[in-house]
Amino acid sequence: MYKKVPGTKDILPDECAQWQAIEQTSREIFRLYNYREIRVPVIEEAALFDRSLGQSSEIVQKQMFLIKNKEDLYALRPEGTAAIVRAYIENSLDKTQGFAKFYYLGPMFRLERPQKGRLRQFHHIGCEVIGSYAPEIDVEVIRLAGALLDAYSIQGYKIQINSLGCVKDKKALSDILHKKLKDKKSGLCPDCQDRLNRNVLRILDCKDESCKKIVQGLNIGAEYLCADCQGHFDQVKSGLDGLGVKYEVSPHLVRGLDYYTRTVFEIKHDGLGAQDAIGAGGRYDNLIKELGGPDTGAIGFAFGVERLLLAGEKPQTVNNNLVYVISLGQEAKKEAAKLLNILRANGIACDTDYEGKSLKAAMRKANDLNAKFVLMLGDNELKSQSVSLKNMQTGEQKEIKQSDLIPELKC
Ligand code: HAM
Repeated sequence: MYKKVPGTKDILPDECAQWQAIEQTSREIFRLYNYREIRVPVIEEAALFDRSLGQSSEIVQKQMFLIKNKEDLYALRPEGTAAIVRAYIENSLDKTQGFAKFYYLGPMFRLERPQKGRLRQFHHIGCEVIGSYAPEIDVEVIRLAGALLDAYSIQGYKIQINSLGCVKDKKALSDILHKKLKDKKSGLCPDCQDRLNRNVLRILDCKDESCKKIVQGLNIGAEYLCADCQGHFDQVKSGLDGLGVKYEVSPHLVRGLDYYTRTVFEIKHDGLGAQDAIGAGGRYDNLIKELGGPDTGAIGFAFGVERLLLAGEKPQTVNNNLVYVISLGQEAKKEAAKLLNILRANGIACDTDYEGKSLKAAMRKANDLNAKFVLMLGDNELKSQSVSLKNMQTGEQKEIKQSDLIPELKC
């Protein structure tokens, strides 16, 4: 028997109801904020991610699903941002639209070690705003993330924000860190020893206890930010304050992708264990130009849908308003087929038994399906052109004319 690939998940019909609820809620909230959906391929040139996320990022170093095709090297997308920027530039949206707000939903792929909340195929719900440096859009995007979480009824999440500053500021911080950490190398975890020369900023948010202790001792604050970046960050914070958005400033939040500059944020949930980030994002003001587009600012975020589902309350799955038709006898079966047709044509969801179940077993099936009504059709009903209709919630049963059925079920 074949098994699913490690780190992937089958989303079975019972669970799909929750996925659909999250997707529908997201679309509704994005609509309120005037974001429009974009769908980009799941496969891109691998070089797009090398260039955007950075050669030294964990994703490019170890986690890309690569596909070699003759001379071409493709990758299953590990995230959406780079692909959306590519699409924005390739389709000349910079010229036809300029400022644009996108949202997206779909699978992402990372060759990670699978564990709770960490998969090799997982799903993002995210957004990207391209074409503005304004701190007001940072505020909108962070508020939007909170509005989505509230609409999913997820409680107890924490928003952490930081500013990495511009490219020069990031370089200044990297230099400071390198200098301060050089002689502490032996106390760092093996990954961070490697990061010291490759990606020193990532040491700041390493979860290893000995690294955390060393980082705490460094007293890293916002002193590396230039005046412009400090001013931008101050405006983001006061904008959030003005809207009553709760957040914590976390000077150790750096994010793992090279494209980030200025505002970065992460949303955490205590109920998730080690993989506690339900979503994250930030500005990437250099990426549009880097990939061949205009010199313009951008910001976005993505939620991991599997983690949203772990953090949220599990809604009861109900098969809303299903009518289950039970026919007794060959003639009734034919009439039932016509009735099912009529019900569906009138927008009423319905189903019947195709396994030759007894009346008792068919009733049990209707119960299992959470049907709202059971409609029974036997010889008597055929003669009088009626049906017996049982309301499964109240238990009430009555015989009604077939001609009255649709209005009865619709009211
Ligand atoms: P990211 O932090 O790599 O950011 O991913 C965003 C979220 O995806 C994470 O917070 C987490 O909830 C979820 N996630 C990541 N990896 C996995 C995994 N292996 N299994 C399950 N869930 C996972 C980005 O991808 C950026 N593109 C976000 C962004 C958009 N920044 C600007 N715009």
